[in-house]
Amino acid sequence: MLNFIFHNPTKILFGAGQIAEIGKEIPKNAKVLITYGGGSVKNNGTLDEVKTALAEHTCFEFAGIEPNPSYETLMKAVAIVKAQQIDFLLAVGGGSVIDGTKFIAAAAKFTGESWDILAKHAPISEAIPLASVLTLPATGSEMNSNAVITRQSTHEKLYFGHPLVQPVFSVLDPTKTYSLPPRQVANGIVDTFVHVMEQYLTYPADAPLQDRFAEGILLTLIEEAAKVLQQPQDYAVRANLMWCGTMALNGLIGVGVPQDWATHMIGHEITALHGLDHGQTLAIILPSVLTVQQAEKREKLLQYAERVWHIQEGTEEHRIQKAIDKTRNFFEQVGVKTRLRDYGITQESIPKLIQQLKNHGFVALGEHQNIDLHLSQRILELSL
Ligand code: NZQ
Ligand code: ZN
Repeated sequence: MLNFIFHNPTKILFGAGQIAEIGKEIPKNAKVLITYGGGSVKNNGTLDEVKTALAEHTCFEFAGIEPNPSYETLMKAVAIVKAQQIDFLLAVGGGSVIDGTKFIAAAAKFTGESWDILAKHAPISEAIPLASVLTLPATGSEMNSNAVITRQSTHEKLYFGHPLVQPVFSVLDPTKTYSLPPRQVANGIVDTFVHVMEQYLTYPADAPLQDRFAEGILLTLIEEAAKVLQQPQDYAVRANLMWCGTMALNGLIGVGVPQDWATHMIGHEITALHGLDHGQTLAIILPSVLTVQQAEKREKLLQYAERVWHIQEGTEEHRIQKAIDKTRNFFEQVGVKTRLRDYGITQESIPKLIQQLKNHGFVALGEHQNIDLHLSQRILELSL
């Protein structure tokens, strides 16, 4: 096992009715900016519940943070934060709203060009404290310190991370996910699954506990995914999916082990250029990464085949291929298409995607840093 430091200070308030508790978690004299997206939290009553819980606080609202939150929109919120001297941010929504709010928190205290926080990983020394009320289990943003922001004018999608933007608390109320459209439920399942794979499916690192945590999340996801599309109002299913999403990317399963993240980096470029949902890009790219990297990932692929998909028969090559096929089929079964052509993307886009990877310095991806631009091209071609 590799050395590590693990510190996750986010307090989780899990379960139905927990929004009522948030008034106690935010300082009484704080000026709060509630941030949200395109209106789903208004329609499903979450925003009203939040406002009731904060009846004794001074609150402002900022609406309109879009999926794949844009720098352009977020800078408008930064102006409000400065003008109103906001001292607490509460994100109500999915990963985009939470990520966007993390950027607002950092940019409002940043001197200089705010885009540098993303483009140059400019150091942050201060941020406004933030918390979240999660409505879409997928990203883990509710319990981590990362954010991914898109600059629409340049078609760039870049990330930053800092302990100062880790949510102070997050409310996970599974009933708030009942209103999710099937497409977003499916995206969330794929995103959670791939977060686990990025941290688990590399090479053995004498970390059996992390492996079994990871396999536990994958197996739970496979079981619950089969139920959620049939029983969308089943509290137990929603609760399990929500906790899987958080546990997949709150740092726990990734401690002391090598990590990959090539699928995510290539996927972000597809979203930046073509606007696909994050989960869709992962469903397209992961099977190809596993195929191209099967020699490097051989031992873990065999372990994954046996423990997650119960594949025991046949040659090693056969078992690996079967595990990759099962992975693709799983994504398709939950409703996420796994080919670039399913989204109208053709060979013509590949040079542009490779150029974007090059521009952003993503020229040595994966746990061995062996995925150069040539191999990324191969991965994209296999994904057509
Ligand atoms: O905007 P509204 O109206 O709220 O609608 C949203 C949005 O259209 C809707 N939605 C959310 N909760 C709902 C709901 N609709 C009905 N009922 C509800 N309860 O769902 C749509 C998608 O929301 P979004 O927040 O974009 O989805 P997700 O949570 O999948 O977040 C994706 C973003 O997170 C980033 C992705 O790159 C992408 O930008 N990621 C963040 C990570 C992190 N911070 O650690 C890691 C991930 O790998 C990922 O990159
Ligand atoms: Zn993701």
